[in-house]
Amino acid sequence: MAMVIEQAPVGFEVEEKISCVGEKEMVSDGGFFKPETNSFGHTFRDYDAESERKKSVEEFYHTQHVHQSVEFVKKMRAEYGSLNRVVMSIWESCELLNEFVDESDPDLDEPQIEHLLQTAEAIRKDYPNEDWLHLTGLIHDLGKVLLHPSFGQLPQWAVVGDTFPVGCAFDESNVHHKYFEENPDYNNPAYNTKFGIYSEGCGLDNVLMSWGHDDYMYLVAKENKTTLPSAALFIIRYHSFYPLHKSGAYTHLMNEEDKENLKWLHIFNKYDLYSKSKVRIDVEKVKPYYLSLIEKSSTGGCNK
Ligand SMILES: [Fe+2]
Ligand SMILES: [Fe+2]
Repeated sequence: MAMVIEQAPVGFEVEEKISCVGEKEMVSDGGFFKPETNSFGHTFRDYDAESERKKSVEEFYHTQHVHQSVEFVKKMRAEYGSLNRVVMSIWESCELLNEFVDESDPDLDEPQIEHLLQTAEAIRKDYPNEDWLHLTGLIHDLGKVLLHPSFGQLPQWAVVGDTFPVGCAFDESNVHHKYFEENPDYNNPAYNTKFGIYSEGCGLDNVLMSWGHDDYMYLVAKENKTTLPSAALFIIRYHSFYPLHKSGAYTHLMNEEDKENLKWLHIFNKYDLYSKSKVRIDVEKVKPYYLSLIEKSSTGGCNK
């Protein structure tokens, strides 16, 4: 699987080809071994922990909550949904992420490529036969290329961080919820009720999510007619949707397919979250496997 993007900023299309990866340990048979602490020696996703990142993470969410509105999301989807800018292989995209650190993440201060490979390898050890899930692990964060000048160099608040629906009330399980009071939609009666512009069981596909790398990569994969199963697309679009998969909020918007796919997202999240520890990857050692997976995927063989 690779990314085809034409020329400059906005979109990129998946073409299937690429490689990355490495070696990792921290898994036991059938059960995932959870490390106790993150890179800073704190428990995971602890937004109150006294760390050098605490203040900047809160400032990040303040800005994000103020700007992510229905109008903003519609504008970004229209602008980036056409994928008419750059052509890039998946491996090139992995390398492009190397220069960025996610400012919203209290657990990770290593290059993004390490995280992609750690996630994919950890899943591979526990689910050796689910090759679609290995590939999903490898590509799930590639939408972070939005941070790069070639893709518009969006600010961090428009690329990373937990995501949430816009167009309906902001659930209190969102981290730093108080800052939504400064969002233009907060006092809009069309957008600030439980259902807002949506209806019961409408399906998350029909819900506008705050704009970032998740929704972007989802659009890229769909536009490129990926052969990955719907569970993979669900993981890609909602893996930062912690209010849903961690707190159980917004379930009234889900349909039956969403509920099935959520099971896979819960599995995936353990690896996305707990692989962020000091485990190094031998990229060259695992690269051939992922190259073959990408090639296989391009022929439609990488199915659940
Ligand atoms: Fe992500
Ligand atoms: Fe991730």
